[in-house]
Amino acid sequence: MSIKNIVCIGAGYVGGPTMSVVAQKCPHINVTIVDLNQARIDAWNSDSLPIYEPGLEAVVQEARGRNLTFSTDIEGNIAKADMVFVSVNTPTKTFGKGAGVAANLEFIEKCARTIRANASKDLIVVEKSTLPVRTAETLEKILHAGDSKYHFEILSNPEFLAEGTAITDLHDPDRVLIGGRQNDLGKAAIQELVDVYANWVPNERILTTNTWSSELSKLVANAFLAQRVSSINAISSLCESTEADVGEVSRAIGMDSRIGSKFLKASVGFGGSCFKKDILNLVYICRTYGLTAEADYWEQVILMNDHQQSRFVDKLVGTMFNTVSDKKIAVLGFAFKADTGDTRESPAIHVVQELCEEHARVSVSDPQALGYAKTDLAGLEEFVTLEEDPYKACEGADAVCILTEWELYKDLDYKRIFDSMNKPAFLFDGRNIVNHQELYDLGFNVYPIGKGELSHL
Ligand code: NAD
Ligand code: UDX
Repeated sequence: MSIKNIVCIGAGYVGGPTMSVVAQKCPHINVTIVDLNQARIDAWNSDSLPIYEPGLEAVVQEARGRNLTFSTDIEGNIAKADMVFVSVNTPTKTFGKGAGVAANLEFIEKCARTIRANASKDLIVVEKSTLPVRTAETLEKILHAGDSKYHFEILSNPEFLAEGTAITDLHDPDRVLIGGRQNDLGKAAIQELVDVYANWVPNERILTTNTWSSELSKLVANAFLAQRVSSINAISSLCESTEADVGEVSRAIGMDSRIGSKFLKASVGFGGSCFKKDILNLVYICRTYGLTAEADYWEQVILMNDHQQSRFVDKLVGTMFNTVSDKKIAVLGFAFKADTGDTRESPAIHVVQELCEEHARVSVSDPQALGYAKTDLAGLEEFVTLEEDPYKACEGADAVCILTEWELYKDLDYKRIFDSMNKPAFLFDGRNIVNHQELYDLGFNVYPIGKGELSHL
């Protein structure tokens, strides 16, 4: 069989960009992305895409109307498919057994039932969502339950793209991982998917494994990445106490090729929809297998991240004479990282909430994320205002907090900002992106992460 029709269920941050790139790179394959959410599909079909991602618009424009379609007709499109990707959300469970830790597989299960009910031939079903190890076993049981006429071969193909760099990550991935059963049918299905990626990914970067290694590797990759951020953040507080500079420490250890230089930027904490959710999931799985010490070990990565976010606010309040009540605090950046409008698990949410608990007046600015900020901060309107213009957000403020590393915050006119602020003027750089000495020279009292303060007080 050669794949002619691919359907992807789930038109979100992963399904949308991933499948748009497949369509771009494989003009001989029809790619249809389906979703329950009519508004999302309408946005994908419009000039105003539902997610902000550099380079995405050009990819969609190239392929849409040629071999890329967005639709809410899930059933009809499954009936035409040779291969179905499942890229629906797998959030942390909020109810019942495993609430707060386990993955909610409700949406995945529903997809399996829809696929079974609408398939018109044997199908390859690809897990694109991040899933607990051994989920393919469950999917297989559901897909083959009852009087199912067709054979469904399940592959695991986790996605490693990061938001903000999704298109470059997809065009030039470090690796593509494909897991499947190690028998003839499984290997044939793996080869079908390898052939799709081989249209643009060099063979040596397409890695094939058994299903369970592939499912688990995704959770482990995110756990390792998050662990590095928590590790350097744990060092950042020690730097603040000892006059070491965390930037210099990162550089010094990162030049050791065994350690490597990436993911060693100290910050106000990591955010995003994946790290916390996937580590919680890993922790839950470890506990399920009775691996308590292992679960505790990974849980610490999250506890350290929570601590880093609270520590940021504690430091701010402590520095500002132990009260921020009725003081104006400008928050520059609300997205969980630069170049995305996504705010899921953004450290800014946590910081703003804690500042509101202290009765500060918080003015939040972000070039892409204010839409989501409005929802995230619902109920806090008494304390929070949203302000697109960063200069206006800082006007009359007692302190400025930089919480997202947007390029634009590096080049603001900080003299103008300083002049418009209450004095003493404080600046807390939660991303270490501005020139601290220059800001100190302008008159700011500057508090970086993991580096001595520069204070006139
Ligand atoms: P998302 O919430 O942006 O998108 C999921 C989409 O699935 C939604 O539009 C929703 O309407 C749709 N959906 C849910 N159930 C459906 C159903 N039964 N039928 C049709 N559509 C349905 O989620 P996302 O960020 O794209 O993440 C998807 C998966 O990819 C998750 O498992 C996540 O862990 C994983 N992942 C995410 C990222 C990332 O950067 N966001 C990176 C790698 C992996
Ligand atoms: C992550 C993984 O990188 C990606 O492979 C996976 O597919 C999805 O989860 P994402 O969450 O989109 O991607 O962004 P990432 O670049 O990993 O950043 C996550 C968080 O860590 C952000 O809040 C970022 O600001 C923070 N971070 C990252 C740091 O604080 N310091 C660093 O050195 C790196």
